[in-house]
Amino acid sequence: MPTGRQIAAFSILAFFCLYFFSASITATSEDIWHRLTATAHTPDFARYSPPLTLSDAEFPIHDRGKRVLVLGDIHGMDAPFHALLDKLSYDPSSDVLIHVGDIIAKGPHEGSMAVLSYMATNNITGVRGNHDQQVIEWRSWLEWIRGLDGGAHWLHDLHAKLHAAAPDDPEEWAAKQLRHSRWAHKIPDGWKLLGDHYRLAHAMSAAEYRYLLALPLVLHVPSAHVFLAHGGVLPSDPRYKPYHRRQPLARVPALPHGAAHDKADLGKTTPLLRRLQEAAVLTDVPQNVDPWVTLNIRGVLDDHSVTRGMDGEPWADIWNRDISSCQGFDQQLRLTEHSKNALPCYPATVIYGHAAARGLDVKRWSVGLDSACVKGRRLSALVLDRKHQKSPFQEEGAEVEGAELEARKKTTIPFGEGRGRIVDISCKSHDD
Ligand SMILES: *[C@@H]1O[C@H](CO)[C@@H](O)[C@H](O)[C@H]1NC(C)=O
Repeated sequence: MPTGRQIAAFSILAFFCLYFFSASITATSEDIWHRLTATAHTPDFARYSPPLTLSDAEFPIHDRGKRVLVLGDIHGMDAPFHALLDKLSYDPSSDVLIHVGDIIAKGPHEGSMAVLSYMATNNITGVRGNHDQQVIEWRSWLEWIRGLDGGAHWLHDLHAKLHAAAPDDPEEWAAKQLRHSRWAHKIPDGWKLLGDHYRLAHAMSAAEYRYLLALPLVLHVPSAHVFLAHGGVLPSDPRYKPYHRRQPLARVPALPHGAAHDKADLGKTTPLLRRLQEAAVLTDVPQNVDPWVTLNIRGVLDDHSVTRGMDGEPWADIWNRDISSCQGFDQQLRLTEHSKNALPCYPATVIYGHAAARGLDVKRWSVGLDSACVKGRRLSALVLDRKHQKSPFQEEGAEVEGAELEARKKTTIPFGEGRGRIVDISCKSHDD
């Protein structure tokens, strides 16, 4: 006979087994992301935030009287930023403002501080850009140094000397200061002490730092079938054909435990399956799990590696090609070499920034919003609302025709199952 103590021990063991079993089958894409990106490196200056899901209410493109306004790369261009908000008649009580990253750096320091203050104070939704990321990394480095023996003193001293010397080129001055300093080896390779990103990291408040830290690498909006990422997202692992079984868009996802997989029920389960399949794009395409990729991708090279250069095939072309092959779940698709234009999936759209050299880049299933404001070109916004999603070509129930129809087609872009609008502003006429 087992003793009471043995029974208690067994019960505890059984409880934990059940606990871990249930935890593993209810794992979300966020858990999986954490497991895949967990590394042993300390300190972790990058402090990445995993993909985040937005609800219909947080991305209200189907709500009467609401709008979603997505802004391209601002880079501290404070005057154009506010001029564009004015042009959009931005009203925080009915509009959701979202940015695609790189809100700071590259532009004027004071402008970056002003934009960051606005974003943090109003807790504006967005994703991290590669420049925001560099500022985060310098700030986490600064906090690490301040925690080391003598670190706070050294930093204080350095800033006092900097203030007194007021050099024209702080980066060059810093390099000289570091030549005989025992702190030099604490600076990661390639980082520029006292540069643009460092100065923002040093100047920002704790609340502003917390705001940047909370920005995820990717936002997913299942209700609108939208992803937002600064650099981009790949639809499939480029090392395999798009219709290879391991690609998430090439297989109907398995329903979670408890949901009956009845073909007749496909109509009812399709929204859930689409959500699962979209989430799988973020977790099962290995490149999308690499933070460097979602922050920096511009293209894919012939050897299937991701590049931030302009020499590869633009990733948005790959996205649009794969997505245009989506035929839905309800047909028996045989995935072979001969059916490469038929994938068991439904379309989803990526909204991104980062690719200033390509400018505003509107494709059927992707919208690139970086129109190079910091180079004196334009700042762009994508405007989404219920009217343009549901009935862009109707007025009071009647079809719009003739010249008015042509005008509406011209002033709108296809977006998802409906349409959207681009509103932009020149960045030349504003002094920063
Ligand atoms: C900012 O917004 C995020 C996401 O909506 C939310 O989780 C967070 O609590 C908010 N932070 C503050 C300080 O209100």
